[in-house]
Amino acid sequence: MKLENTPQGVVAGSIPLFAGHPAHDLLPIAGVERAVESVWRGGNITRLFDYGDEQGNPQLIEFLVERLNRVELLGISRDNLMIIGGSTWGVDMICDQLTRVGDVVLVDAPSYRDALHIFRDHHLDIRDIPIDAGGVIVEEMERALRSLAAAGRAPKFYYVVPNFQNPTGITMPEARRRAIIELSRRYGFAIVEDDVYSDIRFGDALPPSFTALAAGEDVLRMGSFSKTLAPGLRMGWLIASEERIADFVSSGVLKMGGGANPFTAAIVAEYCRSGAWEAHVQWLRGQYQQRCDIALAALDSAMPPDVSYTRPTGGYFNWLRLPPALEVADLAERARQRKVYFAPGTGFFVNPADGRHHLRLSFSFVPLDDLRAGIETLGHQIREMSA
Ligand SMILES: Cc1ncc(COP(=O)(O)O)c(C=O)c1O
Repeated sequence: MKLENTPQGVVAGSIPLFAGHPAHDLLPIAGVERAVESVWRGGNITRLFDYGDEQGNPQLIEFLVERLNRVELLGISRDNLMIIGGSTWGVDMICDQLTRVGDVVLVDAPSYRDALHIFRDHHLDIRDIPIDAGGVIVEEMERALRSLAAAGRAPKFYYVVPNFQNPTGITMPEARRRAIIELSRRYGFAIVEDDVYSDIRFGDALPPSFTALAAGEDVLRMGSFSKTLAPGLRMGWLIASEERIADFVSSGVLKMGGGANPFTAAIVAEYCRSGAWEAHVQWLRGQYQQRCDIALAALDSAMPPDVSYTRPTGGYFNWLRLPPALEVADLAERARQRKVYFAPGTGFFVNPADGRHHLRLSFSFVPLDDLRAGIETLGHQIREMSA
């Protein structure tokens, strides 16, 4: 296996518009260094070299519970939250605990590619439901639920990225969230909300989370430090009912290995406690908004009128639809020859062919000039393909 010092599949010298990571100049390296020094000087360093509490670092739990209650008025207690090694770990753990091979889960069409990957790893029966500009279409979900019920089946959960969805950038309005909670109660399934982008909002407050609207009942919610601090730290959190958190905490993996990355968690806890994280998040919002504005301006000038795209108000992504005559695989090949890489829509659907006219661009990672240049290249290639 070749080892390269570039993140996840980024080819050196290319324009990786597929990469949904923070740009390297947005990582708060000096601030984390100060937190490391402070933890190191703090005296109890030996403890951090040992296994940690199963539920995770207590100071980090305390900080997150206080912040969520302050900012979102969630009303959760520390028994409702555990530290996990990134949202991805949470999705996998939820599958372990809530599902068996062949169980049905509902997702959006399109949905976050790596969650689909995990559901496939668990051999789940994934049903995707069409979306529109407000996220999943409730009537379509109800139709799917009715036909499952007629076959004597019910989904175990609905997986959703409600804010600035990956891959589309769409945010689901409150009324739809309420309607889905109503369906979840009627048909008896849980809601898994993967909320890694809510802190990267450019403007107004977001609609209340599923956790808030359902008062925590049968909702599991992941948050992450990957987008607002650094993905290499592999730190996130899971919010659920006390009973579910107790179940997760007593799983075999945690019983043996202890909680998620105690050493890193202590550093993140110190970084948060000092006030640095909330200040950083505030700063990041402006940075990502600027990137999004640049991407949209480049799309507006480069794309022919029959290419449509989302205009997100937060998060990392634009989602593009090509005219029906153009295949995204052809565009990917042309772009590859020019060292521009994007995420073809095919990866985000249960049936890959449903994404053959779509692509996802990420404005989070590449230098600003590359962002403009990469989008110009794509616009040029699309025009050539259409000609
Ligand atoms: C919706 C969603 N969930 C989870 C993740 C990954 O989160 P983590 O690094 O915390 O595992 C991503 C990153 O792309 C994402 O877009």
